[in-house]
Amino acid sequence: MPSDTSAFDLTGRLALVTGSTRGIGRRLAEGLSAAGATVIVHGRDAASASAVADEIGTTTGNPAHAAAFNVTDEAAVDTGIAAIEAGPGTVDVLVNNAGMQIRHPFTEFPTADWNTLIATNLTSAFLVSKRVAAGMIARGGGRIVNIGSVQSQLARPNITPYAATKGGIVMLTKGLCAELAPHGITANAIAPGYFATELTQALVDDAEFSAWVAGRTPAARWGDVADLVGPLVFLASDASSFVNGQILYVDGGMTAVV
Ligand SMILES: NC(=O)c1ccc[n+]([C@@H]2O[C@H](COP(=O)([O-])OP(=O)(O)OC[C@H]3O[C@@H](n4cnc5c(N)ncnc54)[C@H](OP(=O)(O)O)[C@@H]3O)[C@@H](O)[C@H]2O)c1
Repeated sequence: MPSDTSAFDLTGRLALVTGSTRGIGRRLAEGLSAAGATVIVHGRDAASASAVADEIGTTTGNPAHAAAFNVTDEAAVDTGIAAIEAGPGTVDVLVNNAGMQIRHPFTEFPTADWNTLIATNLTSAFLVSKRVAAGMIARGGGRIVNIGSVQSQLARPNITPYAATKGGIVMLTKGLCAELAPHGITANAIAPGYFATELTQALVDDAEFSAWVAGRTPAARWGDVADLVGPLVFLASDASSFVNGQILYVDGGMTAVV
């Protein structure tokens, strides 16, 4: 095991980032590519995934691949991962990032929206991890990084189902550690604070909410998606070989203070 910074080098690793056509996932995919990994850009729309893969390849000089499938549909996941294995190869690094937000007061929350959130934010990570881990076990190693949230630990009004999904990500991560560590696989989570992306654009544009974010965060600002790249490269690389089942909050200190 190298003890210098070469432990962070991802050259030769194949990395799938679900939901990487925009937002946090896109920046994470670009960061892994810049660190040497061959990345697979993923979303539901094949044209968007291909376009972003081309852009990342141009930016980093490291050609990227594209994949399109719905992470809530087990048959589509099986077909999509099989196509990756038949093409670029077995996934070494899986980042379960695809997710969404729906807001309603709890007593008015449509059950259909609860089901959509559970499927998109939690069942997705179960399905993709289950399918990808089979290949990792056969190869004797791999890295799974789930994307949680400060809502993995902290609730807020109007997003109770979202918080439930992100709390579920914590225990899914620990369960993956318990079951997969004997196969040389690590499973950890990154839990971002408030980051300016398309998912949060309405909140970013809300001056009162943005002031709350700045006041509630010791770092006194929204997160920049670039802030997530270093933590992900660490968790995707040999540098984190003995780090397993952990939740790394990247939140400017928000969850450290009341
Ligand atoms: N933004 C924040 O401040 C923040 C904070 C904490 C945690 N997070 C978490 O970070 C992750 C990414 O958030 P984001 O803000 O970057 O979201 P985003 O900008 O809305 O992007 C979501 C991505 O997921 C894909 N996706 C959504 N549903 C999918 C499905 N059923 N099948 C396949 N792909 C799907 C989307 O692609 P298509 O629509 O093309 O399929 C898109 O690429 C989420 O897990 C979110 O909960 C975000």
